[in-house]
Amino acid sequence: MRRAVLPAAALVGALALTGCGSGAGTGADAGGASKAELSVSSAYMPQPVSPDMAAGFLTITNQGGAGDALTSVGSDVAGKVTMHSTVGGAMREKTSFAIPAHGRLVFRSGANHLMFEELKRSPKQGQHVTLKLTFAESGPLTVEMPVKSATYNPSTGH
Ligand code: CU
Repeated sequence: MRRAVLPAAALVGALALTGCGSGAGTGADAGGASKAELSVSSAYMPQPVSPDMAAGFLTITNQGGAGDALTSVGSDVAGKVTMHSTVGGAMREKTSFAIPAHGRLVFRSGANHLMFEELKRSPKQGQHVTLKLTFAESGPLTVEMPVKSATYNPSTGH
């Protein structure tokens, strides 16, 4: 009888430790109490110069204790929206972008960007386009993205 007690006590101790570590939120663990808390800012589309393709930029901020990933983007104005990274001047299509815990995913001119393909209409400065962002863990987010001038620079606001 005494022999059985010791392993049981050790097992309880191990479970308590695991639960504690999970509650603290390691970032990699999407389960338990910690999860991603996503918000979108700085979204804009430069008025496209091409009749069938446009670019888009935005920042996704994660205030939660778990990481997530942007897995797809859809829009009312485009047949499809693809996600691209720019590495060494060459752009590459990606199927998912990581959003670290307590971190940000940034799409900006010259770097990561969205590409709106098969445009159904030509977005004009002053209009908005609607985006639907889908994530690996969190529920989808809908974003109203303003259309800015073709040469808009977010750091100057012109
Ligand atoms: Cu691209």
